[in-house]
Amino acid sequence: MTGLVIAIDGPSGSGKSTISRRLAADLGLAYLDTGAMYRAATWWCLDQGVPLADADAVAEAVATMPLEMVMDPASPAVRVGHTDVTAAIRSTEIATAVSAVATNLPVRAVLRDLQRGLIDVEANGGSSGGRGIVAEGRDITTVVAPDAHVRILLTASEHARLARRAREVHGVDDPGALAATADQVLRRDRDDSTVATFHVAADGVVTLDSSHLSLEETIQAAHRLVQEVLA
Ligand code: DC
Repeated sequence: MTGLVIAIDGPSGSGKSTISRRLAADLGLAYLDTGAMYRAATWWCLDQGVPLADADAVAEAVATMPLEMVMDPASPAVRVGHTDVTAAIRSTEIATAVSAVATNLPVRAVLRDLQRGLIDVEANGGSSGGRGIVAEGRDITTVVAPDAHVRILLTASEHARLARRAREVHGVDDPGALAATADQVLRRDRDDSTVATFHVAADGVVTLDSSHLSLEETIQAAHRLVQEVLA
């Protein structure tokens, strides 16, 4: 590999998408949101009328999904066939359903291989011109790219994560908004935890706790980690 590969994992609301995107933009790297791939797979199954409870049918559908990831951190996009699903995969319908697809092990194998392929392309050429990539998700530091140059687990307290998601989705973090967000964030993390470990850092993975950091402070801390590893 010639380019820089940065792997970032973390639970919902840890801020990993925002941090990863900014890091990629600052360093001139491509940006891969692997959660968006699981969301696109969910969108595709629903679009094709595949029942999510039918694990074999889901795996088969995902294996033939015409997925295209646009990895420009300035305007990342997701296409399935001729449809731009970038906005559609953020719907509550997809957010609620995605764990059923993300906990399907044959699906994980298919997406893991796609993700490794995309990382490889950017490390050697691709849209970054071989400068490299920031890939984020739940199992990037451990399964998809355990040999990445920089591996970060981004964490935050449950309260901080719920408050961030509530502000994102409802515009406020009052008790009502927190309660409405809790199911999505906590249930999803519980389900996802059954197939990936993203609450505790694996060997060699650096933990960055953003509970008491602003967005800018977290980005600066991530930059410092990258510089330390590169040095
Ligand atoms: O980060 P997100 O909310 O967009 O992730 C969507 C879903 O995909 C979520 O249920 C976690 C799952 N996921 C995963 O299992 N492995 C990844 N590498 C990325 C996301």
